Amino acid sequence: MAILVTGGAGYIGSHTCVELLNSGKDVVIADNLYNCKKSSLDRIRALVSKDFKFYECDIRDAEGLQKIFDNEKIDSVIHFAGLKAVGESVEKPLEYFDNNVNGTLVLLDVMRKNNCKKIVFSSSATVYGMNNISPLTEDMEVGGVTNPYGRTKFMIECILKDLYTSDNDWSICLLRYFNPIGAHKSGTMGEDPNGIPNNLMPYITQVAIGKREFLNVWGDDYDTPDGTGVRDYIHVVDLALGHLKAVEKVEADNGLFIYNLGTGIGYSVLDVVRAFEKASGVKIPYKIAPRRAGDIATCFSSSEKALKELGWKAERGIEEMCEDSWRWQSQNPQGYPD
Ligand code: NAD
Ligand code: UD1
Repeated sequence: MAILVTGGAGYIGSHTCVELLNSGKDVVIADNLYNCKKSSLDRIRALVSKDFKFYECDIRDAEGLQKIFDNEKIDSVIHFAGLKAVGESVEKPLEYFDNNVNGTLVLLDVMRKNNCKKIVFSSSATVYGMNNISPLTEDMEVGGVTNPYGRTKFMIECILKDLYTSDNDWSICLLRYFNPIGAHKSGTMGEDPNGIPNNLMPYITQVAIGKREFLNVWGDDYDTPDGTGVRDYIHVVDLALGHLKAVEKVEADNGLFIYNLGTGIGYSVLDVVRAFEKASGVKIPYKIAPRRAGDIATCFSSSEKALKELGWKAERGIEEMCEDSWRWQSQNPQGYPD
């Protein structure tokens, strides 16, 4: 039986596929290649001992998905496919709701028709909104999200909860990621953003290779130890290993499970800059700029529930996250080849 990985050619999906395949699982990837290069699939192949199937397929295409279920023995789904740029979602809300929410509805309907009722979903710490105080625990109220991207995650969580209430044969795991950074140790796989990066680490690595002149630090007047925003950065390989535990959970038990995937540790923007400089030996020039709209001062997880119920804990620290991000960026200054 195989795991269908939607969005498996993207940043988190590709790292997860490596860990799934190397643990002996059968994997089928469905990706429309909208936000990735096909060459990421070759990079996965080079790191694993068994092959996988790839379908160029949009999750909104019910017929395309049905063909995958006809051809393959799909037992469970890890659902990464989605658009993820907060700023773009404000410009293009309809595209975000269509791709993320409608895409998930189409996927769930095809799964139900094929009696496949096990799914792990990529949610985000963004669902905790602006008002909860860190460390964030899974039982806190969610919602109060300030942008369309975050709302798609919140809405999909609601849909999946309602689905489970309607039919307890489903087994559903919502994974709320904190801030994934880092790259595969080999330096052959990593994050490859289009255009100007929005997120901190890809921006820093582009400054380090000379593609950008300096880092804008969005605000130094927050109520944090050094005034800059504090986040819970998690190595993408730890995140990938969390998916392995989560898919084993939905394979073993029926239920609706919710887990934070974070380290439980908060680092400020300037902590990350210093850690990156130490890991790379490259100086990162920065300027303090006004706060970015929608940002909060502090966001970090309680990661106790995942440890207790999944036996999962992030093992890789900030130094390793920075070293691996740098290895990827310096060995692939243009990202994945076309
Ligand atoms: P990514 O853009 O690298 O990967 C997403 C993949 O999905 C891409 O390969 C893209 O081509 C594919 N895709 C998008 N829409 C599709 C569709 N309609 N049909 C088929 N394929 C489609 O992003 P990522 O960083 O790997 O994130 C994966 C998931 O995790 C996303 O759902 C994202 O919202 C969520 N997430 C990411 C972060 C983060 O910081 N990276 C944080 C929280 C949650
Ligand atoms: C952002 C998204 C969030 C998403 C998450 C993971 C926003 C408002 N939130 O979270 O919805 O789930 O990414 O993809 O976009 N920073 C700088 N300079 C930069 C970039 C970032 O100072 O050039 C700071 C930010 O102000 C923040 C920290 O670095 O304090 C981390 O930023 P980022 O990587 O964008 O992640 P989040 O804001 O946590």
